[in-house]
Formats: sequence, C-alpha cells, structure tokens
Amino acid sequence: MATLFMFLTWENRCISLTIRSAPVLCSAKIDENSPLFTLKMTIPNGLFTADSSNPAWSTSHKFMMTAMGAKAMRNYTRTMDNSANRLVACFNQHLERSSSFDAYSWALRAAAQTIGEVGLATDFKMLDSADSSVAEIFALIAHNISVAQTLFRKGRVYRAIPNPEARDKKRTEDKIHAYIDGEADRVTKEANVEDMPYQDAALQTSSLLDYMLHATDEEGKKMPLELVHDNVLTFLGAGQATTSSAIAWSWFCLATFPAQAQKLYASLTAAGLRADKEITADELARLEYLDFFIKEVQRLYNPAFQPTRQAQKNVIMPGGYLVPKGSQVTVALHSLMINTEHWKDPLTFNPDRWGTEEVRKRHKHAFIPFAAGARGCIGFNFALQEIKMVLARTVLNFQIKNVTEGAIIYDPDFALYRPLNFRMKLLKQIDPSEVKLASDTTVEEKIIAPQPHVGTKILPRFWAVHASNTGTCHGMAGDAATKANQLGFQDVQVVSLADSPLSDPKRTAEVAAGPNFFIICVATYNGEPPDAGLTFSDMLDSEIKAGRASRFKGINYCVFGAGNKQWGPTYQAFPKKVDANIEALGGNRIFEKGSGDANVDQDRDFAMWTTKLWAAVASNFGVDVNDAGKTNDNVLTHSSEYSANAVKVEFVQRTSSTAESSLEQPPLPGFDKAILRSNIELVDEDTPMPRSIRLITFDVPEGFTYQEGDHMEVYPENDIAVVDKLLVALNFVADASFKVTAVDRDVNPKSLAALLVNRGLISLRELLLYYADVAGPLHHSSLQLLSSFLPVDDKFESLRETLSIASVPSDTEASKAFFKKNRNFSSLIENHPLLVQSLNLQKLLIALRMNQPRRYSIASSPLVDPHVAKLCVGVDDLRVVDHVGLCSGFLKRAGVGHGVWVKSRSSQKTFHLPEDPTTPVIMVAAGTGISPFLGFLERRRAQGIKVPEHGGIASFKFYYGTSYHDMKVLKTLVQSFIDDGTVAAEAIYSEVDAPRRFAQHLLMRDALNIWGDISSDGRVYVCGSAVRVGGGVRQSLMHISEQVGGVTDPVAWLAEFRKEGRYSEDVFG
Ligand SMILES: Cc1cc2nc3c(=O)[nH]c(=O)nc-3n(C[C@H](O)[C@H](O)[C@H](O)COP(=O)(O)OP(=O)(O)OC[C@H]3O[C@@H](n4cnc5c(N)ncnc54)[C@H](O)[C@@H]3O)c2cc1C
Ligand code: HEM
Ligand SMILES: Cc1cc2nc3c(=O)[nH]c(=O)nc-3n(C[C@H](O)[C@H](O)[C@H](O)COP(=O)(O)O)c2cc1C
Repeated sequence: MATLFMFLTWENRCISLTIRSAPVLCSAKIDENSPLFTLKMTIPNGLFTADSSNPAWSTSHKFMMTAMGAKAMRNYTRTMDNSANRLVACFNQHLERSSSFDAYSWALRAAAQTIGEVGLATDFKMLDSADSSVAEIFALIAHNISVAQTLFRKGRVYRAIPNPEARDKKRTEDKIHAYIDGEADRVTKEANVEDMPYQDAALQTSSLLDYMLHATDEEGKKMPLELVHDNVLTFLGAGQATTSSAIAWSWFCLATFPAQAQKLYASLTAAGLRADKEITADELARLEYLDFFIKEVQRLYNPAFQPTRQAQKNVIMPGGYLVPKGSQVTVALHSLMINTEHWKDPLTFNPDRWGTEEVRKRHKHAFIPFAAGARGCIGFNFALQEIKMVLARTVLNFQIKNVTEGAIIYDPDFALYRPLNFRMKLLKQIDPSEVKLASDTTVEEKIIAPQPHVGTKILPRFWAVHASNTGTCHGMAGDAATKANQLGFQDVQVVSLADSPLSDPKRTAEVAAGPNFFIICVATYNGEPPDAGLTFSDMLDSEIKAGRASRFKGINYCVFGAGNKQWGPTYQAFPKKVDANIEALGGNRIFEKGSGDANVDQDRDFAMWTTKLWAAVASNFGVDVNDAGKTNDNVLTHSSEYSANAVKVEFVQRTSSTAESSLEQPPLPGFDKAILRSNIELVDEDTPMPRSIRLITFDVPEGFTYQEGDHMEVYPENDIAVVDKLLVALNFVADASFKVTAVDRDVNPKSLAALLVNRGLISLRELLLYYADVAGPLHHSSLQLLSSFLPVDDKFESLRETLSIASVPSDTEASKAFFKKNRNFSSLIENHPLLVQSLNLQKLLIALRMNQPRRYSIASSPLVDPHVAKLCVGVDDLRVVDHVGLCSGFLKRAGVGHGVWVKSRSSQKTFHLPEDPTTPVIMVAAGTGISPFLGFLERRRAQGIKVPEHGGIASFKFYYGTSYHDMKVLKTLVQSFIDDGTVAAEAIYSEVDAPRRFAQHLLMRDALNIWGDISSDGRVYVCGSAVRVGGGVRQSLMHISEQVGGVTDPVAWLAEFRKEGRYSEDVFG
C-alpha cells in the first residue's frame, strides 16, 4: 500500500518540483487524500478530476486547451461585456433602493451567467433584476458537491452501504445529466456548423458545448459523449465557483483600498473607457493598472489555495525532506504568495509593485494563482478576461462601501477561498470629467490588507410575524420560519404582530441595533386590520402623524398580504398600510410586498412569492446561495422535509379512567359549543333550484354575545361517509386512540400535529371526522411533504415525481389536470393507493392541515332572545357543483340537538344600524346576503320602530335580489316585516326578466328616492356575494350621484361616502 503523507509547502524550489517536475511529482492522482476527491465523486472523468494516467484526461486536455486559448476567448468579449452591463443594471436597482447586499452571491450570479452564455450559449436570466435568482442547474451542481462532501465526511464504510445521501446524489446527477443531454440535443439541432478540426472549431463555434460536439482531432475523432458530459459539468462548476470568488475579492479590495480604487478609475477613464461604451478585447488587453490591480487581488486573496500532486517515487525535497512515493503534496498557495523572500511588504496592497523590476524578475513560481505545469488551470484566459470586464464595469459605474458587520470571514471547509459575509453598498461613481489624470494619481496610503477570519456565517435574528383571524397568515409565518431555520438563520421566532418587537418602540430599537429580518404576514377584514393588528395599526397612524421617520430605522422587513379580491376597494388594505408605513417610518424593505388572493389560490400566491423572496434574502444576507438557487425548483418555498420524528405520538388504550378526551376542548381558542335548535329549509322542495338555503337556529353558549350585523364562526365536521371510506383506505383502526406528546417547533402551525399536541386522547375516526382537512383543495406544501415521505425505492419513483411536480405552483395544463383529478386528500388517496404504504399516523399529522372555521352573518337580533342566534346558510346542490361545501354541507346535515363549535365575531364598526332611528337606511342584499338584514329587521321590530308609510319616523328600505322566486318560507318571513310596518321591502328575481336584473337595478329605478335618503344623512348597507352585489351597487350609486345629485367626481364621492361610514359592505365569496 502506498504511504499516505500530506506535505504542505510554500518553498519555491519544492513547489517547482511539485508542480512541474514530470514525472517525479507532477502527476495528479485524485484519491481520498487529495483535496479534489469530493469533486471527483461528482465528476469522475472531467479535466480537473481525471488522474493524469487516465487517457480521458489527455483527450480532454488536448481539446479544451485550444478552446480556452486567448484567441478563442476574444470571441466572447462582447458576451462578457453584455453580462457585465446587465450586472450594472441590477446594481443600479440596488443603488436606487439604497440597499446593501451580499457581495458573493452577486459575484456568483455574474460568473454563472457568463459561463452559461459562453459554455452553453444560454441566457440563464440571473441578471435580469436585483431580485433574480441563481439558475437551477448551478444549484444542482452545488448541491451535488455538498452531498459528496457529506458522504466523504461520513467515511468509506458508510459510502459502501446503501444510504440516503447516495440516493440523493444519484437523483441529482440524473437531473444534471438529463439537463446536459437536453442541451446537447438543442445545440446539435441549432448548430449550423459542420464537424471541423479543433483549432478551427475553437474560433467558429458558438459555445464551448458547440465546440465539444463539433471539434475533431488530428485523426478526425471527436470527444466521446461521456467526456462531453463531464467536461460541460467541469466548466459550469469551475467556470463560476472560482471566478465568482475572485470578483467578490476584487470588490472587497475596491472598498478596502479607496485610493487604489480611485487610481484604477482614473486609469480606465484615461484609456477612454466609459460607462456607456462597449469595451473591446484590445482595450482590455492594454489596461495595465487593471491587470496590476487584479494580480494584487489574486496575490492576497486567490480563490484557489491548495493545488496538490502525488509523488510518483520517493523524493528528497530541497532541505532534505523525504517525500515517500504515493504521498500527496499540497502547495500552500497563500503562504507562497506572501513569502517575504519574494515579496516586500507582502501584506500591503500595492498594485504598483507589479511595474517594478524586482517583481518582474521574481522566481517564476512565486506567483502561481492558476497553479502551473500540465495540470495548471486551463481557464485562466477566460477568468482574467471576465474578471477584468466585471471590474472595469463596476469601477466605471460605482464606488463600493464595505458595510459588513465585523470581520470578513471565510469557510475553511470549502474548496475555495471566498468572502462569506462581505456586504456591500454602492455609491454612484463620480463624473469622468472630475477625475484626476491617472499619471497624477500617486497612492501614498498604505493599508495592510486585512486577513479574513475563519468562520461560519452568522445570519440575522429572524421574526415571522402574523396578524391572522382565521389562521392563514399564522400558517404562512410558520412556513417561513421553518425555511429560515433550515437556511441557518439564528433565533427564529413566530409571533403575532401584537406581541412582536415591532409593536414596542423600546424592543424595536434593541432589535434594530443588531442584524435582523422580519417577514410580516397580515390579512384584512373589511378594510380593517385583523384583531392582532388593531393596536399596531393605531400606532402606525400616530407615529406617521408625529413624523417619527426613524421609528423603524435598522429594521429589515418584507410584507405578505393575505386577502381576497372580492372585497374590491379594500383588497389588501392592511398589508399595504403596514408595508408603506414601516418604510415611511425608516424601515428597510428587503423585498417587494406579496399579495395573496383567497378567491383564487392564496397558498399558491404565497409559494410563488417566497420563491423569489428567498433569492432576495440570499442576496441580502448571503444565505448559502447554493440553497437559495434551489428556489427555481421551489425547494425553498415549502415547509420541507421534516422527518416523521418531528411529531411524537403514543397509542393508548382508552378506558374510563384514561385522560380527558381531546374533543372536550375547543378546536381553536375562543370557540364554545352551541346546540342546534332547529334547521329548516327555506327553498321549496319542488323548486328547480340551484341550491338549498337553511335557516338554522342555535342556543348559543354562555358568553356568546353579539350585535345585529355581527358574524358567527362555525367549526365544521367532515362527512362520516367520506371518513369511513378513508379509514379503510388508510388501514386505520377507527377506534384506536392516541395522543400527540411532542411536536418540533418548525412544524406548520396549521397542521394536525400542531393542533393536537398536548391535548387529550383522540381516536383515529375522531381525528378524521372532526379536525382533518380531507375535503378542501390540496396544499402545495402538503404535497411536498407527502412526496418527501415516500421511501427511496423504485416503485415509488413515479409517484414521487408526480407529487413533487404538483407541489410546485404552476399554471400548466398538467398542473390544472392534477388538481382537477385530485381535488382533495380523499381523492388523492383514492387515485394513488401506493401513497398509503408510505403513510403512518405521524406523517399524516405533519402533512395534513386542520379544517378552518367558516364565517356566517347572524340572521337574528339579541333583542328578541340573547341566548339564540340564527344563520341563513346557502348550500350548493350537487346537481350544480360536483363538490358540496364542507361547512354548509355539515350545517345542512346537522340535526336538532347537535353540538357545534362556534365563536362570535364582530363585523366592521360601520355595519351596524345607526343609533338614531330617524336616519334613513337602505339595505341591499342578494342570496344569503339577506342574513344580517333579517337581524336588522328583528331589531327594528323589537324596538317598535315603523316606516313612515305606517306612521313611523324612519325610512327603512330593503332591496333583495334572488335567483328563484318561490321561497315561500322566506317570502312569508319578510312579508311579515312589511305587513307590520317595520320595513319597505321589494324583491327582484333575476331569472324572470331578460336581460337579467339584480337588486341594484331597483336602486336605479328608485334613484330619486334613494338620493333623497342619502342626502338626508342616510346609510347604505350591502351584503351578499361580492360578485353579485358589491360592484353592481357601487356602480348604481355612482350613476345616481352623477345623474341625480349632479356630482362631478362620482368615484371620489363614493370614497368619501364610505369614509364617513355611511356606505358599508359586508360581502363574501
Ligand atoms: C363575513 C362573511 C359572512 C358570510 N355569511 C354567510 C351567510 O350568511 N350565509 C352563507 O351561506 N354564507 C356566508 N358566508 C360564506 C361562508 O363563510 C362559506 O364560505 C360558505 O358557506 C362556503 O363554505 P363551505 O365550507 O360550505 O364550502 P367550502 O368547502 O369552503 O367550498 C367553497 C366552494 O369551493 C368548492 N370546493 C371546496 N373544496 C373543493 C375542492 N377540494 N375541490 C373543488 N372545489 C371545492 C365548493 O364546491 C364550494 O363551492 C360568509 C362569509 C363571510 C366571509
Ligand atoms: C480566478 C479564477 C481561477 C483560478 C484562481 C483558477 C485556479 C486553478 C488552479 C489553481 C488549478 C489547479 C488545481 C489543482 O491542481 O488542484 C486550476 C485547474 C483548472 N481550472 Fe482553473 N482557475 C480559475 C478559473 C477557471 C475557469 C473560469 C475555468 C473554466 C472555465 C477553469 C478551469 C480549470 C480546469 C478545467 C482545471 C483543471 C485542469 C487540469 O487538471 O487539467 N478555471 N484552476
Ligand atoms: C369578514 C371578512 C372580511 C374580509 N375583508 C377583506 C378585505 O377587506 N380585503 C381583503 O383583501 N381581504 C378581505 N378578506 C379576506 C381575508 O383577508 C383572507 O381570507 C385572509 O386569508 C384571512 O387571513 P387570516 O386567516 O390570516 O385571518 C376578508 C375576509 C373575511 C372573512
């Protein structure tokens, strides 16, 4: 067995021997003792990683040396300038936002974009805007290397047995190879060149891949396809990881050595370079000070630091050291390039030293940033041309400030030396006319180059803040926190807005003093904040009024608004306010506000937004961009891969003495049980109706108080027929009882696991019947979890692919077809019985969400009986929809005496009757929008207030639109209020007239009276489906104001009318 011996050297003579002394030492054998071993695990036969003895290396070397020659590289000057200019455009956006950002992740985008264009002639769109992210293929390559690193660390024995990392690596490699195959096909189809000798191909092909596919050697042979694969990979990897580090260090030097940076700018302008003018290859080659500057950057901060060669025989090194045959000898590049034997003041950053005789005559191996000899870098022409271009473009446009907190650090575990935490901020470069001549610019200042510290990057403290009434925003904040934990953020917390540090000026200031980041997820309720946002909203108003421009200084934030477009003018009202006001009060918005529309697919909106968000976070905080790049396949957008151990359950035999049942506790805080007293059908049995409407009366629990116009929240139960089917499909013993004893903190707060932790016992049937969301549309994050739970086994591969593709929000036909077929968990299980084999209770508890309560307007008045509340519930008929609503279906089924979990909820302040009974009131409703008005009518009747036609004092009008005209029960009910003089009411039946007419058309008919009421300080109340009434009533009122009231700006008039609290909508989907 060969002796294994690492010999680190910075001694030039040894280095010469190591690097150049073929065949004594210079041979590269990449075994487990070589720093390149993990790379070899991912690319076995690439240029970098093939042993020198492997013929694959000589073939690749012959072909690629020519392709990477200086002459060939000149062809790509324009491509590189184009990428550099796109980077400048992104930087200008950062400048406009005046935001600081992580330098390395931007250097990576620039370098990856360039190698993508040169290597594959593909625009990877990484430099489209300041929010662009790293393309998937680069993320996959990086992921593969990091998995290989893990495998390497776990050792040879572990690698020899089947293990998850190896499977992950295989999957990743399959994807990478599929990608390269696709590219090879594309390039072959698109290329309009014939095969040709490699010297010609180097100048005539459009990309390195094009070259590899068409170049022939002296014998007319082409590079074998497997080598094309490995070399494309090598170039995509080597071409960006190295250059990006060099670019980031160059920016660091511009910021650290301003005098030299200024001199560099002067030298560029003196050579005639301008921000708005193309830079040619000739110009680049002539820029001496730029060349010196880069050399000095590489001397002090070279990305590569450990080229290694294997001793081919026993060698006695100069100095008398024996290096046994088979030893790996590593050149300590950094030490070599600051060795005082060759460098005067080695730690001083002094580009001018490169013009001195002393440096010109240095030992030829005193400066070898690209190594040397047969195994030296073949990409150096490419690298230097690109770094020069990016540096020139940066300096022509910007000055750079280093805003890193603390020292710059690097990660010693990584194969390259890169600044992990360097944050930079940009200033506009001064006008070229104000620049001193380069020759007049002498640099007196001598700053010792700071030496980076070894370290791991510390990410900011992270808050996921929510203001949520029904849990959507809470769930989103939970998902964001989970991902933040996985990305390595420190001290991740999920808190309600009311309890967050943002609500208290003292705590805000404490947090702002250190690195921090807030994701704020908030909803709106009728234009108002959710409960947990009320005080915060008032605080914002008063701080804005007081002009406290630095109330949120130092706070980094972004906002996601949950909302529903059916609320029209108040869509996203509170999130917009939070987003704009925090900025106005000095906060630093890291990422543009996101908006979700619950009317369409809010889960998807949030997933899409977070996709981009994490890329921006990566750019801002320098989260490992390898991970951030995965945003493209959406890994970052999901709650991600928990192990099933994230939740602990215990099955318990239920006896009369076992602990309390979970069912006795309310499913959510504030809920209590109401008892159903009656449940009657309002629609006649023989009506050809589209749906049924139930009038349900509850005996409400103690403490349930409400006003007319308020809402009741109902926690629904699933259909027992669906549950029984599921129990069979899941192989669950219906009556087996369990309790959840622990849940990891990053499990989604809306999951069943989070709901049930530390509650009493519950049976599997009860779990599915009372809590599990098995009927609602599937969540993308649930699908992702379900796919991650599938065992690694060929038989699950196709299902895994189906689920993981579906878990990525998308508008494709395939995605639509998937969700149409798999409309909920029950149908998913039915369509994919294989899924059951991978599911146990723990996994189900993590992946499935809990049911959410639904709101209903209360259709009664407490003045009649404070212990009673009525609802008027519309239930879609299966003849019209192919899926009965969960809660309405439950309420329809619920029999007398059934206990239902309910909670009273206030409606908006303006949706209550005026105190003054003489104020004219106009009520407009459609469909079940009649509910709150039944409450209003009961109140008036209880108060004994009559309309003027019955000798009373109040104008009290009710317009009601419905689509079917013979609801006898309802008609009789409303008629009784007309008959006793409580209200003047009229109904319109939309399907009777052609064209169809709705309640708002009655307003137009009665326009004069309506305007009369409005002019007498009247109020208008609207309730019902937003689609049917909301917009229509607003339009009618604006027409009336214009045509009867002579109003010139009806839009402004309506806005004012609403602001005064005289126009109030309580609409729902
Ligand atoms: C403030 C307010 C007041 C309200 N007042 C009333 C009121 O007084 N009366 C009233 O009737 N309603 C009222 N609503 C509406 C009510 O809250 C419910 O939205 C309504 O009852 C439907 O809920 P659901 O659980 O029955 O249907 P859901 O299960 O939520 O379904 C809603 C719709 O989506 C479809 N759907 C659901 N799941 C799927 C799936 N997996 N695949 C395909 N389609 C699916 C259903 O067919 C249905 O059409 C009010 C809403 C609000 C916000
Ligand atoms: C500043 C940028 C770069 C630096 C500092 C650098 C440095 C080096 C060093 C030191 C080696 C020898 C490694 C060893 O023996 O362990 C090397 C090899 C190599 N480099 Fe670079 N490199 C850079 C950019 C590039 C680019 C942009 C490419 C391709 C587009 C590239 C392609 C290669 C290849 C293919 C090899 C392996 C050669 C072989 O083993 O035959 N490099 N590089
Ligand atoms: C009574 C009520 C009023 C609403 N009003 C608005 C509104 O004015 N603007 C809006 O964008 N969304 C409105 N919505 C939609 C909610 O903001 C949306 O459903 C959101 O997902 C709720 O988030 P939460 O579950 O975190 O409370 C309203 C919803 C309800 C139930």
